[in-house]
Amino acid sequence: MNPLSPEKILVVDDDSNLLKLIRLRLELAGYEVATALDEGEAIAQARKEVFDLSIVDLKLVQSDGISLMEEMHSINPAMPVIILTAHGSIESAVEAMRRGAFNYLNKPFDPQELLFQIKRAIENQKLVSEVSRLEGALKERYDFKNIIARSEKMRRVLERVSRVAGTYSTVYISGESGTGKEIIAKAIHYASERRNKAFVAINCAAIPETLLESELFGHEKGAFTNAIRTYRGLFAQAHEGTIFLDEIGDMPLSIQAKLLRVLQERKFYPLGSGRAVEVDVRVIVATNKDLEAEVRRGLFREDLFYRIHVVPIDLPPLRKRKEDIPPLAEHFIGEISKRMKKNIRGISAMAMQKLMLHDWPGNVRELENTIEHAAAITRHDIINEDIILPRKDLPAEPLRPLKEAVEDFKRGYLVRLLEFTKGNVSKAADLAGRYRADFYNLLKKHDVKPEDFKNLGKKEKPQPT
Ligand SMILES: Nc1ncnc2c1ncn2[C@@H]1O[C@H](COP(=O)(O)OP(=O)(O)OP(=O)(O)O)[C@@H](O)[C@H]1O
Ligand SMILES: [Mg+2]
Repeated sequence: MNPLSPEKILVVDDDSNLLKLIRLRLELAGYEVATALDEGEAIAQARKEVFDLSIVDLKLVQSDGISLMEEMHSINPAMPVIILTAHGSIESAVEAMRRGAFNYLNKPFDPQELLFQIKRAIENQKLVSEVSRLEGALKERYDFKNIIARSEKMRRVLERVSRVAGTYSTVYISGESGTGKEIIAKAIHYASERRNKAFVAINCAAIPETLLESELFGHEKGAFTNAIRTYRGLFAQAHEGTIFLDEIGDMPLSIQAKLLRVLQERKFYPLGSGRAVEVDVRVIVATNKDLEAEVRRGLFREDLFYRIHVVPIDLPPLRKRKEDIPPLAEHFIGEISKRMKKNIRGISAMAMQKLMLHDWPGNVRELENTIEHAAAITRHDIINEDIILPRKDLPAEPLRPLKEAVEDFKRGYLVRLLEFTKGNVSKAADLAGRYRADFYNLLKKHDVKPEDFKNLGKKEKPQPT
């Protein structure tokens, strides 16, 4: 924001005369003022604009000022709020402070006192954000590198991570998709004494049942038709290190039985081998399914569930820790602009507001993709709201046959990949999780030409049709 532009204050009171009076005084003092007579109006304003401070009457028509303050904080957590109380209601004043108000003033209040409190609140807020920026910089150096955790919920997760890192216990990470299960699994490994040994990850949902067993435990040459040579398997590769079994809920029952035995005895038999292999491996598992429900449905072994459910870590969805959105967004902007070699300095206040109001069904990964997309298409050094989550404002599309919609999506996706990688097919295939040859076929099928993306920026971008 421009440091020279006036600070914006939102005043909420159901007494229109008092509103007028406050507006007058604040405008005289050089502030930009918006007013609201009730909760609905106040929230509408707070969604539309980013205020530096809000003054809220404790007694409002539909609810109380404290609830309104909390609702406004869910949109803009950093905005200081001053609560106006009727003379003598000290209890509610204390309650207001406890729930996040910066301060309170008794009515009738001295105008000078109001101005003084406003100045103090805004200055304080600037200090707080500067300190948290510096703290963030320090943390990044000494703490968990690259893990953003401003919310209380995530800080508790990190505390738990540091407490279990030094132990041998199996860790059970649960959370919706994109909440950071893998990044936390890695953090545990790198905070442990095993950090210089291997961290081996496998996605149990991505590998067919017939291959999963030999992938995990290895095989002897000739153990099955395609076993041309002996393979050690991932458990052996993770010896003295950590193995991360991702999407463990998708592990077939037959393999669950073998895994259970490994966890109990810390040894296993490669396919086709009569010789037991002993390993010292730290096991971390992750799931986005409700495994207890899977146990009840008979799809997951109960004994295995208890074996792995030793230290549970539950990652909260992003919508329940919105304070993490601003630092995450800044973190991703930094990373992505470095990667894209673009000099993007930040994000506009309105764009940030839009991020705060979104529900994030895809969690941190969706936020990362949103920022990445915006960073790719922005023509300025600041990401503005018009390119953040733009789909929301578009009129709903008419419904089309699934096949047609899917084909369109695929083409648009390929175009985005190539825009981002500037026509580098290997990189694009990598990002899409496809083999190169496979990916070439996809491009051909959808008539997308990598050459068209090699000089992006120098000429018009091809548009998905
Ligand atoms: N707290 C965080 N700080 C910084 N980056 C994060 C954080 N949480 C997640 N990310 C990033 O978001 C993306 C998704 O995280 P990750 O892959 O760990 O999630 P996941 O829960 O394993 O997702 P899925 O269920 O889809 O496998 C990654 O790029 C990761 O680096
Ligand atoms: Mg994952």
